[in-house]
Amino acid sequence: MSDSSQVAAEETELVTGAAGHGGSTRAGHPASLSVTGLTKTYKMGRDDVIYALRDLHLHCEGGDWLTIVGTNGAGKSTLLRTVAGVIKADAGRVDLDGRDITRLADYRRARFIARIEQDSALNVAASLTIAENLAIASMRGKPRRLRIGVTARRRRTFADALVVLGMGLERRLDSPVLELSGGQRQALALVMATMSHARLLLLDEHTGQLDPTAVERVMEVTDQLVTRSAMTTLMVTHNVEHALRFGNRLIMMDRGRVMFELSVEEKRATTTAQLLERFAKESGSALVDEELLFSDATTSHRITPTPEP
Ligand SMILES: Nc1ncnc2c1ncn2[C@@H]1O[C@H](COP(=O)(O)OP(=O)(O)OP(=O)(O)O)[C@@H](O)[C@H]1O
Ligand SMILES: [Mg+2]
Repeated sequence: MSDSSQVAAEETELVTGAAGHGGSTRAGHPASLSVTGLTKTYKMGRDDVIYALRDLHLHCEGGDWLTIVGTNGAGKSTLLRTVAGVIKADAGRVDLDGRDITRLADYRRARFIARIEQDSALNVAASLTIAENLAIASMRGKPRRLRIGVTARRRRTFADALVVLGMGLERRLDSPVLELSGGQRQALALVMATMSHARLLLLDEHTGQLDPTAVERVMEVTDQLVTRSAMTTLMVTHNVEHALRFGNRLIMMDRGRVMFELSVEEKRATTTAQLLERFAKESGSALVDEELLFSDATTSHRITPTPEP
């Protein structure tokens, strides 16, 4: 096989999940992810360098749901963008299901990696209808010769997928997405991710711009879809209570590194206050604002940034 056809064959396997690391042949299984020695710097002025990622190592088994918390500027978005291929790292590698995807372009990774950002405008096509958005998502990773069309059968599939949201969107298939609220758009983006048969889902503060009621609703939807789907999930959040409540692992990031990790058992046994205390102790920074520690569950528990070393 030539080099290019070998690469194409490996990509197809990543899309279908047909040949996972360890010889799995189960199609559509969630992908494992390995991040090894990832480093990303930005030059500031002539001599100053910011380490957005500093020799970061991370491994997720297929089906893991990792929540990621950390200070502003800790490198959380940079990590997700590097995994998605939107940013090129200076050093290190990214493996999905044991395949090195470090040099694979972002649009090619989009066939098996879905990313949802805080700004819903980046996640959905606002001028298109709900059905058209879902049709595009369901074509992701499929051969280009298949036409994007919204047949009666596909409309039923889309309606069935939307019913679980409990938002009535199944009755609004022909409405343009710009008529939807922020929470509805993010919920639609989550359904689009499941429709696209992505095997890795990257959520970057996807509830960050929503009001408290919508935040809770979108998190319920996230929980439902991630748990049901075959997607390994990385979820960045500033809501420490959510980071503890959802997912099976939690990492705290600080200054481009993973500072510590909690297992599912440790997550269950840890309170928001204890997590923030541990962060303060290990980072050597002043403890976060008291009112953040004692605010209610719907309020984002923001962690204050620590200075660069
Ligand atoms: N394009 C860029 N140019 C220069 N510096 C950048 C750029 N992108 C990110 N950085 C810097 O890299 C560091 C990590 O940024 P990143 O956006 O990953 O942090 P974050 O953990 O997502 O923060 P937040 O919680 O505020 O979203 C920060 O110091 C940031 O200022
Ligand atoms: Mg960010």
